[in-house]
Amino acid sequence: MSNSVKVNSTDVFTALSRVQDPDLHKDLVTLNMIRDLEISGDEVRFTIVLTTPACPLKHQIETEARHAVMSIDGVSKVEIRMDSSVPSDGRARGLLELPIRNAIAVASGKGGVGKSTVAVNIAVVLAQSGAKVGLLDADIYGPNIPTMMGVSQLPSPKDNRLLPAEAHGVKVMSIGFLVKPDQPLIWRGPMLHTAIRQFLTDVDWGELDYLLVDLPPGTGDAALSLAQSLPLTGGIIVTLPQQVSLDDARRSLEMFRQLDVPIFGVVENMSYLELPDGTRMDIFGTGGGQKLAEAAGVSFIGSIPMNSSVRVGGDSGMPVVLSSPESNVSQALITISKDIAAKISIAAVQGSNFIPINIVG
Ligand SMILES: Nc1ncnc2c1ncn2[C@@H]1O[C@H](COP(=O)(O)OP(=O)(O)O)[C@@H](O)[C@H]1O
Ligand SMILES: [Mg+2]
Repeated sequence: MSNSVKVNSTDVFTALSRVQDPDLHKDLVTLNMIRDLEISGDEVRFTIVLTTPACPLKHQIETEARHAVMSIDGVSKVEIRMDSSVPSDGRARGLLELPIRNAIAVASGKGGVGKSTVAVNIAVVLAQSGAKVGLLDADIYGPNIPTMMGVSQLPSPKDNRLLPAEAHGVKVMSIGFLVKPDQPLIWRGPMLHTAIRQFLTDVDWGELDYLLVDLPPGTGDAALSLAQSLPLTGGIIVTLPQQVSLDDARRSLEMFRQLDVPIFGVVENMSYLELPDGTRMDIFGTGGGQKLAEAAGVSFIGSIPMNSSVRVGGDSGMPVVLSSPESNVSQALITISKDIAAKISIAAVQGSNFIPINIVG
C-alpha cells in the first residue's frame, strides 16, 4: 500500500527540481522559490514564491508543481500556497536610496499616442495582481494622469512629506498637482528637474514593487533627470504604427540607450479598429511597431487595438482594464503588463548570481 511509504523532503525537492519556471528557464528549487515545506504523513504542503504576482504562468507552474509532487510514491495530498516577492534588478548605481524595487519609464516620440493610457493601465493591472505600485506623471506638456485615474488633489502632507494620492490601488503623483494649468511652459521646463528629484525624495511612496513613470513626449531632460536620480529597471516606448510616429519613437529608443537604460521594448497602440463584423481596419498603417523593434534590436511587446472605451475610461477616471476588462484592448493591456512583469523578473535573475542548490538524490 502506497501510504505506508514514508515521504521525505529530499523526494519533494527532487520532484520540484524537475519543474521549470518557463520564463526564467531554471527550476523552482534552483530559483529558491520553494519555501515552508511541511510533510505530515501522506500530505505535503509548501509555498511557491514567484518573482512577481503578475506572473502570467502562475497557474501552469502551480499545476506542474502539484503534478510533480503527487507523483511521488506515498503522497496523496498536495497543498500549495502561491506567493510572490518582487526582486529588484540589483543595478543600483549609488543614486537615491529608495524603497522602490523597480522603476519603469514609459516614453513616446510624440504626444497623443497613448503613452499615459498605457502607463495607467499597466499600473492598474500590476496593482490588481497584488503588487505595490506607484505612478509618477512627469509629463509637463500634458499631465493628465490625475484625470485618467480620477483623482484631483493630493492628501495633506504629513511630517513635511508629500503623500501621493491613491486610486484603484495605485499611488499617484503628478506634476499637474504642482503646476497650474495656465502656467507657461517656459516656467515649467526648469522646474522639471527639481520636481523630479522632489517626487522621489519628498514624496512618501512607501515601499513599491513597481514605479511607473510617464515621461514627457520626445527626448529630453525629464528622462535625464530621472535616470540621474534612480536606477531605472527599464524603458518602454509607445508608438502608433505609422512612419512619422515611428521616426520619433526611434529617437526615444536612442535616448534610453544613451542613458544606459535597458529597453523592455516597443508597444504599438491604436494598431487597428475591430469592426462589428470582426474584420480589422488599419487606421494608422500596419506592423510599424514590430518593424521598429526589429530594426532597433529590441523586443516587440504587443499591439493594442483602438477602442472608444479607452477614451471614455480615460476621461472618466476609470481605466479601461477596470471598466471593460473583457474588451480586446483590456486583454491586450493585461498581456502586455504581464509580459513586462516577466521581463523584470528575468532581468533580476540574470543580474543576480543565483547559487544553485545541489539536490542529493
Ligand atoms: N487604444 C486606444 N483606443 C482608443 N483611444 C485611445 C487609445 N489609446 C489612447 N486613446 C485615447 O487617445 C488620447 C491620447 O492618449 P494619451 O494616453 O493621453 O496619449 P499621450 O499620453 O501619448 O499623449 C486619449 O484621449 C486616449 O483616451
Ligand atoms: Mg499623456
